[in-house]
Amino acid sequence: MVNEIKTIGVLTSGGDAPGMNAALRAVVRTGLHYGKKVIGIYNGYKGLLENDMKELTYRDVSGIINRGGTVLKTARCKEFLTPAGVQKAADNARAAGIDALVVLGGDGSFRGALALSQHGFPVVGIPCTIDNDIGCSDYTIGFDTALNTACDAIDKIRDTCSSHDRCSVVEVMGRNAGYLAINVAVATGAEVCLLPEKKFDLTDIMDKIKETTEKGKTHFIVVVAEGIGGIEFIAKTIEKQTGIATRPSNLGYIQRGGSPTVKDRVVASKMGLKAVSLLLEGKTNRVVIYKDTNIVDLDIVEALSLQKDFDNELVDVAEILTY
Ligand code: F6P
Repeated sequence: MVNEIKTIGVLTSGGDAPGMNAALRAVVRTGLHYGKKVIGIYNGYKGLLENDMKELTYRDVSGIINRGGTVLKTARCKEFLTPAGVQKAADNARAAGIDALVVLGGDGSFRGALALSQHGFPVVGIPCTIDNDIGCSDYTIGFDTALNTACDAIDKIRDTCSSHDRCSVVEVMGRNAGYLAINVAVATGAEVCLLPEKKFDLTDIMDKIKETTEKGKTHFIVVVAEGIGGIEFIAKTIEKQTGIATRPSNLGYIQRGGSPTVKDRVVASKMGLKAVSLLLEGKTNRVVIYKDTNIVDLDIVEALSLQKDFDNELVDVAEILTY
């Protein structure tokens, strides 16, 4: 079984995440360590359709462990997700001599990997997204870096808020999930956090802000998850109803870039090594996951069927520790 896989393909897909480069480096170097050939595919599945690929050496992945983004580039590719697209991608990979593909990305990228596996092409997925919204894995590469970036930005916004006695309504990324938002809210001591996972009433929030103003509080941070949005409206409503000068700020793409934290570099290195080890053991169509602090693996079909519980304990922490 071990000798069956001689050439491993690797691509990064979907939104870039800090630590993708560290995972790529680990995939390439583990493959080379075990005498395998590694081919890097540029621009995700789009590159597979366009035969945009190149054999990677130790030197190609030198000096990238500390870099954000992805040196392989990435794309979201609609054409790939048609049956003809998947077939063409599998044919191109086979024609390039690739025996199995390691996919670094989020949920959408894993669905692409699943489609390839259903066309008989072996895959392994590594979870990379700042959103931490992949149901099967407690942790996704890039989450810790994005948390720290957002936390640093909100600490700075807080300085201005406290100097001017203002309120800032800050939108944090996360697509439809509030994992980034709730963790950042706790870490920055945000007075309010609005999440897609929790119902809220703007009137209650106004009442809370007014009540704490009466107790002497003079500045506020309201963290709003991307899945809620509407920060301009929320800011206007707060200003109108409480009389506190309120400004909206969207942290935007600064949360996606930047040098990965130690945690992201280490998890990425472990996951990259694990992905190649699985292939060498003859295990394919797996997703590498982070479960109870261990790096383990799951069948890709099962992995994609799982949903993650929201951390309600953190919601309680956020509510009890503010005001
Ligand atoms: O998945 C990462 C992420 O940054 C989400 O938080 C956000 O909703 C989305 O990607 C934005 O994607 P794009 O850059 O393709 O518009």
